[in-house]
Amino acid sequence: MRKTMNRIGILTAGGDTPALNATLYGAVERANQCEVEVFGLIKGFDGLLNPSVPHVLLNPLYQTIPELDPCLGGSIIGSSRTYIDPHKPAEIKAVTERLKRLGIEGLICIGGDGTISGMQPVSEFFPCTLAPKTIDNDLGLNYIDEPSEWQRDDSDSSGKLTYRRAAGHDELALEEIINYATPGYATAVFVVVQAVERIRTTAETHRRIAIIEVMGRESGYIALGSAYGQPDLVLLPEVPLNIDRVEQRVREIYDHQKHAVVVIGEGVTDETGLPLGAVDSHSKDPAGNILFSGAAEALESLLLKRLGDSFFQRKRRHESAKAAIFTRKVGHTQRGGRPIQFDRFYASQLGGKAFDLLLAEQNDTVATLQWSREQGFRLDALAANKLKDQWGMIHPRFVHRSFYDALKFQPSKLGVEYLRSIFTHAIGQDDVEVIRAKLFSPGNLVTRYQSVNVDIQKRIRYLDKSAS
Ligand code: F6P
Repeated sequence: MRKTMNRIGILTAGGDTPALNATLYGAVERANQCEVEVFGLIKGFDGLLNPSVPHVLLNPLYQTIPELDPCLGGSIIGSSRTYIDPHKPAEIKAVTERLKRLGIEGLICIGGDGTISGMQPVSEFFPCTLAPKTIDNDLGLNYIDEPSEWQRDDSDSSGKLTYRRAAGHDELALEEIINYATPGYATAVFVVVQAVERIRTTAETHRRIAIIEVMGRESGYIALGSAYGQPDLVLLPEVPLNIDRVEQRVREIYDHQKHAVVVIGEGVTDETGLPLGAVDSHSKDPAGNILFSGAAEALESLLLKRLGDSFFQRKRRHESAKAAIFTRKVGHTQRGGRPIQFDRFYASQLGGKAFDLLLAEQNDTVATLQWSREQGFRLDALAANKLKDQWGMIHPRFVHRSFYDALKFQPSKLGVEYLRSIFTHAIGQDDVEVIRAKLFSPGNLVTRYQSVNVDIQKRIRYLDKSAS
């Protein structure tokens, strides 16, 4: 690799994943080989909007700092959902000037769709590449021409634009998928599967119906992966809820095995397309995503009404439907903690690839992970614009309909094949050993948690001391 830069910046933006440090590690290790300095910018784009630009040298003397441990979840340089506004040229100018004053010649952003939108305005003035991350596994395409299938409806009187997907390809070859799996996804599924297994036995014992809500926003990949825990029904955001059929299936299963386990993606919609658990369609986070409150609770109240107390009383299983049905959100445990081997390995590879793309002057590109039956996984790259529709929007990748059997509420044959290609060897021996050796380490009882934030704080430098 020709050394075209001496110093680069790197940041992690958006919601965290367990694999962010692994991606940072991969990029920094590659930079060490090429003798390039790496400045870690604190708290994503927020750090660049701060005139003092807090930052950390991640590889003094081209050696990775010991705090950067690929096995540690989260990001040692912090993250935020603050993005650069493409409509504020003064802001973009200030950011690029700050980067230049730091002697930084290129920037790696680790993030998802919001991060690309934040990176692109900068990339018009400053070399940038992206290493993907998201537990939702929604940064990518089912096939290359998918963005052109989006249709936009003219804004209504409230000025709101709505996007619709055309039917698209009926069939999908796994080799067509762009960015097959994103770092963070495998560990999120690992957590969810264990949650499903654990909730199962308590529902089984107490003759209850468990509704388990998993993350993923509009994309159902995490819910799909939960199938490893053998839930009785898997409900994906991509398939509007047919409550009649869900009720019927729950009744059948409950009659047969005296309990039932339902996994529901947080973004599951009703038949009109409104998210079942939306606070309301106007409440959004800074990246413009609808805020969700509780798809599981919404499904619970539908089942409470439909099944009623009598359904549970007739076989003396419960006094009331309320006592029989319960909900659990797996929540942020999906996003945190130690990444499993699949994530660690491919996250660090993708970090290295984003570095190589930057040095090869492939501005505004995304490092991707591809899969084929013959070769397994390999790294590749994609121009960021390829992810955008004709209006410049990046839509979350949806679970393709050929991955899901909506009658059985389970992954289809192709869905199973997709999951197997990722998960069969996703857990390493050390992932198991670390539980055995460390979870009940007596030292944990007598030593306070040693936060990496404390150590990193000692390394933080500022562009302009007076501004800090
Ligand atoms: O996009 C990642 C994600 O974890 C989603 O699955 C989830 O809806 C959201 O972030 C939660 O965000 P927050 O951490 O802001 O609650």
